[in-house]
Amino acid sequence: MRIPPVNLKPALEETRAEWQARLEAVLARMSFILGEEGAAFEREFAAAMGARAAVGCGNGTAAIELCLRDAGITDSKQEVLTSPLTAPFTGVGIAGAGARPRFADVDPKTLLLSAEDAAERATRRTAGLVVVHLYGMPAAMADFRRLGRERNWVVIQDAAQAHGARYRGRALTAWSRYVTYSFYPTKNLGCLGDGGAIATDHAGTAGRLRARRDGGRVPGSVDMVARMGGINSRLDEVQAGFLRAFLPRLADWNAHRAAVAAVYRRELAGCGGVEIPEAVEGGVQHLFPILVSKREKLRAYLREMGIGTGVHYPVPLHLHPAFADCGLKKGDLPVAERACRRLVSLPLWAHLPLEQAEEVAAAVRRFFRG
Ligand SMILES: Cc1ncc(COP(=O)(O)O)c(C=O)c1O
Repeated sequence: MRIPPVNLKPALEETRAEWQARLEAVLARMSFILGEEGAAFEREFAAAMGARAAVGCGNGTAAIELCLRDAGITDSKQEVLTSPLTAPFTGVGIAGAGARPRFADVDPKTLLLSAEDAAERATRRTAGLVVVHLYGMPAAMADFRRLGRERNWVVIQDAAQAHGARYRGRALTAWSRYVTYSFYPTKNLGCLGDGGAIATDHAGTAGRLRARRDGGRVPGSVDMVARMGGINSRLDEVQAGFLRAFLPRLADWNAHRAAVAAVYRRELAGCGGVEIPEAVEGGVQHLFPILVSKREKLRAYLREMGIGTGVHYPVPLHLHPAFADCGLKKGDLPVAERACRRLVSLPLWAHLPLEQAEEVAAAVRRFFRG
């Protein structure tokens, strides 16, 4: 593929000296789980996100599960509302805690969870919300925070795709107690395996999460006793080393992603047959999705030109067999369903040459003109 959907090689090359040094340090210490590297990364990541604390864990799915467990939302009678337009792992994290995922529709302009629809679809069993900052764009946190306060719901922000995003000029942790991140390799900040974290402004919450990710064992206690409900989900030292090498580059990498997105927006403006979801102030660009009617034909045409694409996401969560007990059927969440039929993600990565983005946009224009 001449222009792949994602290419991590240049980022690895750019930071080679840094990650080699971090790996040497980890290997010299011969400590691989819950050591100095992870602790240093947690401090640096919290500072970069504008949060008071960050707690590393095994992946972004476990981060969601840990927050729900911490909030006591672990019963199948408790429902958690989220977006149907997200990775299945958002729902998997909710189910992993023992709660039931429920879904509300998305806003047609941004494709982010609609606070209005969430309010309407809530039931007396609704105990929490997982608000997804999809594609790197922050959802309407002022509305979700208000809703959470009015109805006594726990609000978790799934920022797996939104490292560095802010909302109304403030850090995401200013808007709810729990903000979860994934460091899956292709994310804006990724490691070279699985990794995740929770950011919070609440010191007590961070302390509990540190115990819960380690089987409920309180850090520093020597008796190995599980003192609270926990799981085994820790960020390992090798991944923390890579993340420490990449983190100082995140702002520049996000700026380049934004520049690529600006090329796409400029070159595809007014292109008949293409809709572009609205960007949100304070967002970062994780993916660049467009909505088209002849998706598979467009993808095949681009593939012939050596241009790779993705689909995020082809099936809304309420139509996944794993979430069938949510009680919704085809046609119940029309905005998300329409989007899932039409979405295509154009190539986007931190080092994608802008000329290649122009080339991709030109090929999309040609397809719709022809
Ligand atoms: C929106 C969203 N939520 C949750 C996850 C789960 O993250 P992870 O793969 O690290 O478990 C992902 C990534 O796959 C994601 O994109």
